[in-house]
Amino acid sequence: MSADAKKLEAEILAAIDAADDAAALEAVRVGVLGKKGSVSALLKTLGGMTPEERQINGPLFNVLRDTIAAAIGAKKTIIDAAALNARLAEETLDMTLPLEVDPQFEGRIHPVAQVMEEIAAIFADMGFDVAEGPDIESQFYNFTALNIPEAHPARQMHDTFYMQAEEEGAPLVLRTHTSPVQVRTMQDSAPPFRFIAPGRTYRCDSDQTHTPMFHQVEGVVGDETTHMGHLKHTLEAFLAAFFEVENIAIRFRPSYFPFTEPSMEIDMQCHRDGDKLVVGAGDDWMEIGGSGMVNPHVLRHAGIDADKYQGFAFGMGIDRLAMLKYGAPDLRAFFEADLRWLKHYGFVPIDVPGLAGGLSNKSLTTLTSAT
Ligand code: PHE
Repeated sequence: MSADAKKLEAEILAAIDAADDAAALEAVRVGVLGKKGSVSALLKTLGGMTPEERQINGPLFNVLRDTIAAAIGAKKTIIDAAALNARLAEETLDMTLPLEVDPQFEGRIHPVAQVMEEIAAIFADMGFDVAEGPDIESQFYNFTALNIPEAHPARQMHDTFYMQAEEEGAPLVLRTHTSPVQVRTMQDSAPPFRFIAPGRTYRCDSDQTHTPMFHQVEGVVGDETTHMGHLKHTLEAFLAAFFEVENIAIRFRPSYFPFTEPSMEIDMQCHRDGDKLVVGAGDDWMEIGGSGMVNPHVLRHAGIDADKYQGFAFGMGIDRLAMLKYGAPDLRAFFEADLRWLKHYGFVPIDVPGLAGGLSNKSLTTLTSAT
C-alpha cells in the first residue's frame, strides 16, 4: 500500500477509536465512506489511472475500504453494547410492585344492569321484544289508559311524584310503574304482542326494601287465544332460567289491579336455610310481582279490538330479583353509589350474560378480585 494510503488508514482508525458514541462514529463513517468521504474520493482516483496503476492500487484501496468498514462495524457493536448496558442499569424493574390491573377489569356493571341484561336474554329466547317508554309520563298513560280513572283511590295508592310541567291541563308524573308501556307499545304495533318493558319507576317511598326510584319489568303477551295457563308457564320458565334451577313453582294469589281482570299476585316457592334464602324448593312463598289478564278497557285505550284479542300482563320488581339472586340485603345500598359496594356486588364488563355462556358467570370477577 502507498505511504499516503497507509497514513490515511492510520488516521481513520484513530478517529474510529476516538469516537465514543453512535453519533460521533456515524460522523466518522460519513466523512470516510460517505459520497464525499476521503476513502470514497480515493477510490474515485482509480478511474484516472493507467491500467497498470489500477491493477496495483485497486486491490489496495478495496482492502483499505473493507478494513475501515470492518473497524467501524466492530466499534459500533461496542458502542451499542455499552448503550444497552447503560439503559439496563438505569431502567430497573421493581418486582415487588403490585400488578397493574387492566382497566377493563376495574369498572363494574351494577347488579341491576346485569339483572336487566339477564332478563332480556331469557325473554328474548322466548321470542319477546324489548319495549321502552318515557320515565316522565302523562297521567293518561300512567293512569287513565290503564283503567285508573281520576279520583280513583289507586292514584293515591301509588304515592305519585307529580311534575310541575303539565300536559293537557294535568301535571306530568314520574311513572309509578312500567304498565304505561303496555298501552304505548300496543298503540304503536298490532297483535300478536309479545314484549317486555324493563325500566325505572318512581314512588315516594323509602325504607329497607323501598327506594324512591326502583326498577320493574313489564311483560305482555296478546293474541286471540292467550290464557292464564300461558302466563303461569311463562313465569315459571322465566324464574327457573333466571335463578338457574331446574324447576320453580309459583302460586297465584287473587288480587286487584284496575288494568287486569282477573288479577293475581305472583308468589315464588322458596325456603330459608339459616340466613340464606333458597328459591325453587321448600314450602315458603315470596311475592315477586303482579299479573293478570289485560283488562279489555286497556286494550280499547290502546286501540285494540277487545272482542277479538286477549292477553296477559305481569310486572315484577327487578331490584327484588337482583337482591334475591345475588344476596344483597339492603335495597337502599343499590343506589348509594358506593364504589366499595359496587366492587363487591358488581360484575366485570366482559361477563356478558347470555343463555349459552351462562347468565351469571362470575369467574372473572373472582379471578380479578383476588389480585
Ligand atoms: N303495575 C303493577 C304494579 O306496579 C304490576 C302489574 C303489572 C300488575 C302488570 C298486573 C299486570 O304493582
